[in-house]
Amino acid sequence: MNRPRFFLLFTIVFLSVFVPARARGADDNLALTPPMGWNSWNKFGCDVSETLIQSMADAIVSSGMRDVGYQYVVIDDCWQVSRDTQGNIVADPKRFPSGIKALAAYIHAKGLKFGIYSDAGTETCAGRPGSRGHEYQDAAQYASWGVDYLKYDWCKTGTENAQAAYTTMRNALDATGRPIVFSMCEWGTSKPWLWAKNVGNLWRTTGDITDCWDCQTEYSYGFTRILDMQDGLESYAGPGHWNDPDMLEVGNKGMSLTEYRTHFTLWSVLAAPLIAGNDIRSMPPEIKEILTNPEVIAVNQDPLGKQGRRVRKDATTEVWSKQMKDGSRAVVLFNRGSAAGDISFKWEEIGYPGHLQATVRDLWAKKEIGKTSGEFSATVPSHGVVMVRVMP
Ligand code: GLA
Repeated sequence: MNRPRFFLLFTIVFLSVFVPARARGADDNLALTPPMGWNSWNKFGCDVSETLIQSMADAIVSSGMRDVGYQYVVIDDCWQVSRDTQGNIVADPKRFPSGIKALAAYIHAKGLKFGIYSDAGTETCAGRPGSRGHEYQDAAQYASWGVDYLKYDWCKTGTENAQAAYTTMRNALDATGRPIVFSMCEWGTSKPWLWAKNVGNLWRTTGDITDCWDCQTEYSYGFTRILDMQDGLESYAGPGHWNDPDMLEVGNKGMSLTEYRTHFTLWSVLAAPLIAGNDIRSMPPEIKEILTNPEVIAVNQDPLGKQGRRVRKDATTEVWSKQMKDGSRAVVLFNRGSAAGDISFKWEEIGYPGHLQATVRDLWAKKEIGKTSGEFSATVPSHGVVMVRVMP
C-alpha cells in the first residue's frame, strides 16, 4: 500500500475507534443542567432590535447574572421578515441593520451564547416566515451565524405530526455539526415528555405563561395554573432533557415581590429552564436579588438533574421536595392561602428516616436554622414560600 493510502486508512480506523459518533438530542452533552438565560418575548414581544438585544447582553454581564449562570440570550419571534429568492431567511434590515451574524459575535464576545427562534409551520405565531420546508437551509444558516440555541414553535402547522416535524429539525441541526440546544415549543399538545428525550433538550409542557398569580386566557395561564400542570411530569426530566413550564415572569410587574420569589423558587425546584423575561437593564435590586440568589440557582442547577415533586398538598398549603446530588433535599413550603400560616413536613415525606439528624438551611434568609430530626415547620406568608435545604 502506498503511503497516502496507508495514512488515509490509518486515519479512518483511528477516527472510528477513538472519536465517538455524534450523538443526538439528550445524548449531545448539551443542557446537562437546565438552560439559563434571557428571552425577549415576555417583556418585549415583537419589539426586538439589535440595540435591544445588545443592551440586554450588556446588562446580563453588568448585573452579575452571567456570573451566576445566565448564559443564553435568545431573540424570540419577529426578528425575521421574509425569504430571499434563494429561500434564505431574511432578518428585519431596519431592526437588525448589522445582521444576525454580527449580533451573535457581539454576544459571544461578552462570554454569552446566542439563541434564535423559528417555527415548524409555514408561519411563526406572529405571522413571520416559518421553517416548514426550509429546515435544513435554516439550520445551516443559523449555524453559519453562530447560533447556539433554537426555540422552535408550533403555529401554522396544520395537520403536521409533532414528533416528525421536530425530528426533521433535530436532524437538520445535527447535519450542521454545530452544537445547538434545541428548545421545543409545542405547548405540551402531543405530550412531548413521552417521546422527545432524544429529539430536544427541553420541551414546553403547557400553553404560554402570563404575568399573574392565578388567571387564565384562551392560550395563557398564570403562575399557579402552570405550576399545577407540572405535577406528575417529574420522571421525564433529566440531564440533557427538561420539562419547560415556560419562561420567567419575575420582574414584569404583574405579581408582588413575594409572588415572584415563589415563582422563582418553584421553577428552581422543578429543574425548569431559568429563562428570565424581564427588562434586565432597569430591574430594581429586589428583583435582581431574586434572579441571582446563588443558593436557589444551585438547587435548579444540581448535576443530579432530578426534577422536584409535590410531596404533600393540603387545602391551601403544599410541600415540594427535590433530591440533590450530595444526598440533601431542597424543600419548599408553599402557602397559596390568603393569610400567613404554619407548614410542616416529616422526614419520611422527603425520603429520610425519622431519626436522621440533619442541618436545615434557609435559602432565602441565607442562614442556618439548626440541626434537627424528624420534622421541620415554619410560618409562611400568604402566597409565599420558605425554601430550605435539609443536609444530613
Ligand atoms: C408562542 C410561544 C411563545 C412565543 C410566541 C411568539 O405563543 O409559545 O413563547 O414564542 O409564540 O410569537
